[in-house]
Amino acid sequence: MNPATSEQPATDTVDLSVQVGPLHLSNPLMTASGTAGLGLEMEPFFDLAEAGAIVVKTLTKAPRHGNPMPRLVETPSGLLNSIGLPNKGIDHFIEQVLPRLAGHASCLVINIAGTCTGEFGELASKLDGLPGVDGLELNISCPNVEGGDLPFGRDPDVVHRLVGDVRSATALPIITKLTPNVSDIAAVAKAAEDGGSDAVSLINTLLGMAVDWRTGRPGLGTVVGGLSGPAIKPVALRMVWEVSRSVAIPVVGIGGITSADDVLEFLCAGATAVQVGTTHYRTPDAIPRLAAELSRLLAEEGRTSARDVIGSMRTG
Ligand code: SIN
Repeated sequence: MNPATSEQPATDTVDLSVQVGPLHLSNPLMTASGTAGLGLEMEPFFDLAEAGAIVVKTLTKAPRHGNPMPRLVETPSGLLNSIGLPNKGIDHFIEQVLPRLAGHASCLVINIAGTCTGEFGELASKLDGLPGVDGLELNISCPNVEGGDLPFGRDPDVVHRLVGDVRSATALPIITKLTPNVSDIAAVAKAAEDGGSDAVSLINTLLGMAVDWRTGRPGLGTVVGGLSGPAIKPVALRMVWEVSRSVAIPVVGIGGITSADDVLEFLCAGATAVQVGTTHYRTPDAIPRLAAELSRLLAEEGRTSARDVIGSMRTG
């Protein structure tokens, strides 16, 4: 037997658990909002309890039909979307979906968006204390709603006030999801932290567009949409690194994760956990696959805990 191999920890002794503010996750893998429906849609593919957390598609106060078709365009290594937050509204979720979903995930995070800053607090207070709800993610960064990119997510003063409103409305842990479509994402992250956010998640999609020159038609019904997938990973890594050096709260990395190496790169750059998104459209059971692969890679390197990798990037 190779002596080096015999010294590796067994994969089942590798501890994948991480702490995102008050949320204890059994592994650093969360579903990215919008790519796993309201959670139950993923049950044919994996046991929801295998994810560190399930984050549901954004819920709004009033039902929304979403944007005109086409809503999706595939690009080299990426996916452009302009979905427009279709959902049946928060009351429908609480009455019809949550009773079926509660208890299935080991950690359930509800993603919410208001049409004005005050509505975020209203949505948060409706969810406060409901059985099965473990945390909130504030979508202050959707690029696909009326008027384009939400103004809330770009202005640190507005973010500070909005997060403060939600903080006063609920005791639930708050994760604030940030837009990359700003010149200084660290300033927005700091405003979220100062407003009372327990963590920040980043990045939501990068503004982009597609066009067919033959027909002269844009690829998306709204012309401009948000780009996700492997194409945005280097931008996301850079922003995670910048933000993790600017705030004391945990950073959840999002952007083009398709492999366990990608996950560990985000952790190394400063993320405490990650969200897995676009890859779900090719590999709906990506979360359990990545969890197994994470244990294997860490064991191969003689590591016993995923937490040891967090923020381990050296620049000097
Ligand atoms: C959408 O529904 O348009 C996407 C949501 C988002 O990017 O936040």
